[in-house]
Amino acid sequence: MSDAKMTETSVPVVTIDGPAGSGKGTIAVKLAQQLGYHYLGSGSLYRILAYYRLQHMPDTDDLQALLERCETLRIVFRPQGDEGDVQVLVDEADVSDALRTEDCGGEASRLAVRPEVREALLKKQLSFRKAPGLVAEGRDMGTVVFPDAPHKIYLTASAEERAQRRQKQLRKQGISASLDRLLAEIKARDTLDKQRPISPLRPAADAVRVDSTELSIVQVVARIAALVQQA
Ligand code: C5P
Repeated sequence: MSDAKMTETSVPVVTIDGPAGSGKGTIAVKLAQQLGYHYLGSGSLYRILAYYRLQHMPDTDDLQALLERCETLRIVFRPQGDEGDVQVLVDEADVSDALRTEDCGGEASRLAVRPEVREALLKKQLSFRKAPGLVAEGRDMGTVVFPDAPHKIYLTASAEERAQRRQKQLRKQGISASLDRLLAEIKARDTLDKQRPISPLRPAADAVRVDSTELSIVQVVARIAALVQQA
C-alpha cells in the first residue's frame, strides 16, 4: 500500500512497553531508525507536562490550565546519531536535558496517575501514528493507546541491572548518584506505575516478552526487528 493510501489505523505500529531503565527508549529509537518509522517517546510527553508544571506553576493544583497550555505545544522527536539518542523539541526549543532530571521523572509519575492527564495525552499520542509506521514506547502503548498494534513488545530487565544502567548514563552526564538510591527510586517508580488504577504498567495479552538483562542493545534491536519483519 502506498503511504498516501494508508488510513490512520492501517499504519503499522510497534509498541514497546516496560519499566524505567529497561532500555526501551534507546531500543525504540534505534528500531525506528532501522525501519524508517516515526518515533514516539510517550514518557517524554508526561515529562513535558511535569517540566512545565515545575517551571511555571509549582504551587497550584490547576491541572486544567496546565493541560490547556500543553495542548497547543508542538512536540517533535528527532533521533540523533546511532546510539539511540533523541532530541525532544517543544515549540522548536530543545528540552531534552531538562526532561531527563529525576525531579522531572518523579513529577511525571505523579501526574501520570491523574485520569484527566492521561486522557489529554491520549489524543496527542495518537497523532504520532503516521505513514510509513510508528515505534511507540512507554507503559501503556500496547494495552491502551495502540491496542490494535500488530507488533507488541514488553521489555524487562532486573531492577539491579536497570539501576546500574541509569548510574552509567548519569556518569556520562557528569552526575554521580549512589546505586542504592537509584535502585530505591527505580523500585518506587515501578510500584507507582504498576499499582495505579488507570493504565497500569503491564504486558498486553498479545505482547512478546523480551528480557534485556543479559542482552546488549544491538541484540535486543535485532530480535525485535526480526519479529516485525517475519510478520
Ligand atoms: O519513560 P519515562 O521514565 O520517561 O516516563 C516518565 C513517567 O511517565 C513514568 O514513570 C510513568 O509514570 C509515566 N508514563 C506513563 N505512561 C506512559 C509513559 C510514561 O504513565 N506511556
